[in-house]
Amino acid sequence: MASRFHNKVAIVTGASSGIGQAVALDLAREGAKVMICAARNVEGLEETRKAIIDLNGVCATMTVDVRDQSAITACVQATLEQFGNIDILVNNAGVGQFMPFPRMSDEEYDRVMDTNLRGTFAFCRAVLPTMMEHNYGKIVNVTSIMGEVAAVGQSIYNASKGAAKLLTQGLAVDVSGHNINVNAVAPGIIVTNITRRMLGDAERERYFVSRIPKGRIGQPADVSAAVLFLCSDEASYIHGTTLVVDGGMICTR
Ligand SMILES: NC(=O)c1ccc[n+]([C@@H]2O[C@H](COP(=O)([O-])OP(=O)(O)OC[C@H]3O[C@@H](n4cnc5c(N)ncnc54)[C@H](O)[C@@H]3O)[C@@H](O)[C@H]2O)c1
Repeated sequence: MASRFHNKVAIVTGASSGIGQAVALDLAREGAKVMICAARNVEGLEETRKAIIDLNGVCATMTVDVRDQSAITACVQATLEQFGNIDILVNNAGVGQFMPFPRMSDEEYDRVMDTNLRGTFAFCRAVLPTMMEHNYGKIVNVTSIMGEVAAVGQSIYNASKGAAKLLTQGLAVDVSGHNINVNAVAPGIIVTNITRRMLGDAERERYFVSRIPKGRIGQPADVSAAVLFLCSDEASYIHGTTLVVDGGMICTR
């Protein structure tokens, strides 16, 4: 268990906080060399880097806005130069949206779609040549239960995550013949920066908990465990699937 990812090289996007930070730390704890990146929050990236070093892990950091194709290309190149290969890509970077449909602007539409969908597409495309060359790869896209069902004020977020789920399936089909697995993890409500405001007061939190059969809000570690499973060779026959990690919340819809 401790060395599931010994000598593997991973890129984790959005690793400055929340789920991405947990995934980066857990991969490093299990032996992976990790390129951690995020667009903003340089302090958060530094926090992740320090935590990995404290584990005696190996990592590099880079500021990468996933809406910027040239930054993605530079990140892939830097990872190859530093670590020689890319075995694992976790497309975790994402933004939320809490805005009624009639008030959605073009700018907000672009922000959500370009980060959550185009960024995932562009990063997958950028790592494929090296994964195909080495005939090995694990790609995990972090979607959402909001890509499975809709919710008030989240229409474009719903669309971005639903499309990322189908992109995962489409890519899984298109890499057939290569030893590359492409899957998604769809979290429910997880305590991170994205949801902290939504969960704000105790009454609201109680309401959400009442809709979760497991009786608690999720933690980044809950999602990370599923991501690492899909990145591992134990999951080599799991391909094009979306693993929902929501404490059963979707069952109550
Ligand atoms: N927290 C939840 O309840 C929840 C539920 C379902 C899905 N998700 C998904 O999980 C992923 C991680 O979110 P989180 O909850 O950890 O929130 P978070 O805000 O803590 O983390 C988001 C990360 O994405 C990065 N990011 C945002 N825009 C970016 C961009 N343009 N380029 C590069 N990086 C960018 C941020 O810097 C940060 O590191 C997201 O894709 C989110 O949609 C979260």
